[in-house]
Amino acid sequence: MNSATSLQRRLGLGLTLGVTLLWLLATSVTALIVEHTLNKTLDSVLEETAQRILSLAVVEISNRESSDLLQQVAGLHPHEEYITYLVRGADGVPLLVSHDIDLSDFPDTPQMGLRSTATHRLYGISAVSDTFFIEVAEPLASRRQAKWQTLGMLLLPLAGLIPLSLMGIWWFVRRSLRGVLDYRAMLEARGAGDLSPVGGKDLPAEIVPIGEAVNRLLARLRRTLAAERSFTANSAHELRTPLAASLAQVQRLRREAPDGPVQDRAAHIETSLRELSRLSEKLMQLAKAESGGLVGEAPQDILPIVTHIIDDFQRAAATPLALALPTEEQVMSSIDPDALAILLRNLIENALKHGRKDRPVEISVSADGMLRIINAGVVVPTTELGRLTDRFQRANTRAGGSGLGLAIAHAIAVGAGATLTLVSPAPGRIDGFEASLLLPH
Ligand SMILES: Nc1ncnc2c1ncn2[C@@H]1O[C@H](COP(=O)(O)OP(=O)(O)OP(=O)(O)O)[C@@H](O)[C@H]1O
Ligand SMILES: [Mg+2]
Repeated sequence: MNSATSLQRRLGLGLTLGVTLLWLLATSVTALIVEHTLNKTLDSVLEETAQRILSLAVVEISNRESSDLLQQVAGLHPHEEYITYLVRGADGVPLLVSHDIDLSDFPDTPQMGLRSTATHRLYGISAVSDTFFIEVAEPLASRRQAKWQTLGMLLLPLAGLIPLSLMGIWWFVRRSLRGVLDYRAMLEARGAGDLSPVGGKDLPAEIVPIGEAVNRLLARLRRTLAAERSFTANSAHELRTPLAASLAQVQRLRREAPDGPVQDRAAHIETSLRELSRLSEKLMQLAKAESGGLVGEAPQDILPIVTHIIDDFQRAAATPLALALPTEEQVMSSIDPDALAILLRNLIENALKHGRKDRPVEISVSADGMLRIINAGVVVPTTELGRLTDRFQRANTRAGGSGLGLAIAHAIAVGAGATLTLVSPAPGRIDGFEASLLLPH
């Protein structure tokens, strides 16, 4: 279950990744368009500049006394020259150059039209029947710089966009999933025995059918369990009368039969009928334990119930029972008194039945509602302890029984919110068994 990925995380990462990719795509397309437009504009500026300068240069050169003398145009004020130009005559001799020119940027013979070298963008044009040539050069570095700056400005928002989008989506998804999270908390908070419908009024429309399906399933489970319990309870109840009648008949038969095999057989039948009767009694207890309603309306003092039950056992059992009560006059608990009585009877019966007969069974109640029943006897292996609370599970014991006592005790403890713990050997001893029960307040 833990390997499942959180929807919040998945949406947060997925959407952020999607937004980032889209942004990058948009940035790339924009950068390409900007570069194309920039190149077109700058090329046209280059052409315009060349044509303007050439027409002026032709006039200027024609007015010179010696027309094949190189003249370098002086800058009006010091500045870095962005566009440089070179005017040449028909024989390729430079006649006019801009002040910051580097002649190595230009080819040896003039070339017409637009083209690029590794470092410059050049444009060449001629005038007066190819007797004057001009070439203008613009460094490519500045174009590249403009391109990267645009790209940088477009990418810069991404640095803020990624964490912001992650946080925003995280928050928004969490808000949208609040109904689902509440639903999960409600399911987690309820005990395993709580089969009442789960509320889910704030669930998103997509999850509502799941909530309804869960409730339908719970209702079906409730009906099935109720049917199972009522069947167990009814069968056990229906068995009572015929069992009691058969038992009475067998007892009469034993009294009337002469000593011998018939007497022995009647004794066997009586023992089996008693076992059967005990089993049906336990089945009824189990049905009650699993039917719910094990929490009383108001907390009650449990000490009178404990002492009453112990008195009952003490009268009938050969093994002594040692009772230690707290100094407080009352120990209150919300557990249903009848259910507590059934639970205690089963635990004490076990201690007497499965423990050593020559050692007392120690029963203690503490002020905080902890009940302990300790008996001496053979250690029950830890591997078996865990499954003793299952129905019809028994450890290695010579005593009779059906294996339902601890299942009944466990079902009552769960239904009443108590905690039943089984330990063997008993704490602080090398043998024996301890059943402890922490009652709800
Ligand atoms: N106090 C105890 N000391 C030692 N073993 C115990 C004790 N209580 C329970 N056990 C072991 O756990 C098993 C299950 O107990 P459980 O009460 O469920 O059934 P049972 O006593 O055998 O039969 P039933 O209670 O239905 O008459 C017992 O068979 C026994 O082996
Ligand atoms: Mg038992």
